[in-house]
Amino acid sequence: MDGNGRWARKRALPRQAGHNYGAQTFRKITKYCEKIGIKHLTVYAFSTENWRRPKSEVDSIMKLFKEYLEESLTDFTKENIRTRFIGDFTPLSPEIRELMSKAEELTKNKTGLCLNIAINYGGREEIAHAARSIARDVAEGRLSPDDITQQDISERIYTAGQPDPDLILRPSGEYRTSNFLLWQSAYSEYVFMDILWPDFKPADLDRALNEYARRNRRFGGV
Ligand code: FPP
Repeated sequence: MDGNGRWARKRALPRQAGHNYGAQTFRKITKYCEKIGIKHLTVYAFSTENWRRPKSEVDSIMKLFKEYLEESLTDFTKENIRTRFIGDFTPLSPEIRELMSKAEELTKNKTGLCLNIAINYGGREEIAHAARSIARDVAEGRLSPDDITQQDISERIYTAGQPDPDLILRPSGEYRTSNFLLWQSAYSEYVFMDILWPDFKPADLDRALNEYARRNRRFGGV
């Protein structure tokens, strides 16, 4: 969900205002994804590197996240969305972690969109987390080093059990992956769009999906 800061700067507003609008866009786009039948959506809300921002900005993003969680707990009956979180939650406040557990528990039987919110997420940290889990299994004799497969890693990443993404969409005119879903994106199709996240509309998602539909996916074959 990139470009909140630039969107605010263009309007001579504080960066916080960009995140406020970005959070509204997030709500609209998740609802739209549910409506058009997308089964899995992962949004990158906060990376393991985003702690380097000024404390006031980090606090404002956490506040928006908390507001969204509180609202989703009272609103959850309206949407058929299953909410999950991916990332390392240890540095998050106990209050936010408690709300996250409640949101996961309340929505676990929803059958529509599965929404993953990546919070304190980093693709490299996710792979390191899987490596630690494998190392423990080896140390305790449950797994032999020679038998470690790609499947063993896939089963230990945060999105275990969910399909790899077909499409990864990055708005804001930047052309990089920024540590997002590194393991899962081996054969994902990328669409880069020159639009700042607060301006992103359902029609922009449609454009990206049309672009995706024109791609010829070969997964290394012919
Ligand atoms: C990236 O834009 C955006 C973020 C680091 C924060 C995204 C957070 C939200 C949209 C709101 C909170 C989340 C939820 C789930 C309610 P940027 O700040 O890097 O923009 P810039 O590159 O233009 O500076």
